[in-house]
Amino acid sequence: MALDRAKVPNDLNAFWMPFTANRQFKKSPRMLVSAEGMHYTTSDGRQVLDGIAGLWCCNAGHNQPRIVQAIRDQAGILDYAPAFQMGHPLAFELANRLIDIAPKGMEHVFYTNSGSESVETALKIAIAYHRARGEGTRTRLIGRERGYHGVNFGGISVGGIVNNRKFFGNMLNGVDHLPHTHLPGQNDFTKGQPEHGAHLADELERIVALHGPETIAAVIVEPVAGSTGVLIPPRGYLEKLREITTKHGILLIMDEVITGFGRLGASFAAEKFNVQPDLITLAKGLTNGVIPMGAVLATGAVHEAFMEGPEHVIELFHGYTYSGNPIASAAAIATLDTYREDGLFERAADMAPYWQEAVHSLRDCRHVIDIRNMGLIAGIELEPIAGEPTKRAFSAFLKAYEKGIMIRTTGDIIAMSPPLIIEKTHVDQLITTLREVLTDLD
Ligand SMILES: Cc1ncc(COP(=O)(O)O)c(C=O)c1O
Repeated sequence: MALDRAKVPNDLNAFWMPFTANRQFKKSPRMLVSAEGMHYTTSDGRQVLDGIAGLWCCNAGHNQPRIVQAIRDQAGILDYAPAFQMGHPLAFELANRLIDIAPKGMEHVFYTNSGSESVETALKIAIAYHRARGEGTRTRLIGRERGYHGVNFGGISVGGIVNNRKFFGNMLNGVDHLPHTHLPGQNDFTKGQPEHGAHLADELERIVALHGPETIAAVIVEPVAGSTGVLIPPRGYLEKLREITTKHGILLIMDEVITGFGRLGASFAAEKFNVQPDLITLAKGLTNGVIPMGAVLATGAVHEAFMEGPEHVIELFHGYTYSGNPIASAAAIATLDTYREDGLFERAADMAPYWQEAVHSLRDCRHVIDIRNMGLIAGIELEPIAGEPTKRAFSAFLKAYEKGIMIRTTGDIIAMSPPLIIEKTHVDQLITTLREVLTDLD
């Protein structure tokens, strides 16, 4: 009988896997072969409940029939169209659809293929915006400690996750960082937004005073920091950042690659927190994770700054071969249809209180030192094993997978962000299994 290489690959060596301990994985691989709704099926035929929506991206669940059909149909109509000096209708339709649901003030869409590219695009737009307005000295970028903005050079420069930076040389110069917002001992086990920490936004005034506002182009933050292990913004913090950036003519970029498309129980974090940024970066939930696609949303004011000069001249020397790809556009439109027709953002908001109580019920479990949550996101922080950081949480991940649930760990923090179609019985299964895992954990 012929070997089914899709199910049982006979050589794992060639694929250099991303963000993976390759040698460890290849000794004991975890292989997913199909998926539907809330579940994956593994190569050994087990069902695994998806507690992280793929990688914070499959918000409508797996193999959503509308999205699958849209991709099939589009592949047979227009497979590819050049993105430069040419157009196709779906990319324009999608942009309009995005603006319809985007936070107030967002009027234009620039397409990319990933969150990392959205970040690079937003940083470049910010610098070019100031130059277009005759303020070419504004080139400095401000990120935040523990921030994650993808893996390209701009993103790791403004990002603040140490291991993602330290191997890669000098990165961009002219970058500074705000302090992160995690305050152990002050906000532990907070449900939703913590009380303490708004003052940390005042650090921006110090950075502005140090360099001079005329040198600073933009501040970029994740409204809820996801990859570092779920840090919810303290009450008043984002508002303060907006106030200080506006005062000094600095653009505010919200990286909504995770928080966009219902994850917080609202379309976008900007809407949830009622703070209006100048640029928003998107990816992941834009196509339900099915086809790579990202986007940057820009205000009318940012866009208008570029629309000067002779009309035959390209206004922004930037773009990707696959910007607004027809099949990705079709997938994204079907995804937006699904979110709207199935009421998934509202569903996430309705489920959030149940989710909150469920995750906080793990407070008394062994090793748990903090729990944080908002919308359908949760972070459960474990006491690290002395001298062996990350090991305890990674063991929890492996045990959880054996017991049929998929979680994610970062450092010693368990992060969960299930598809927005999750039912209460799934929440119960995730929590009961996690309790067992934590009880057995060394
Ligand atoms: C906030 C944020 N920005 C950017 C990215 C990078 O996205 P991608 O992996 O699609 O490049 C991520 C990915 O997790 C993210 O969480």
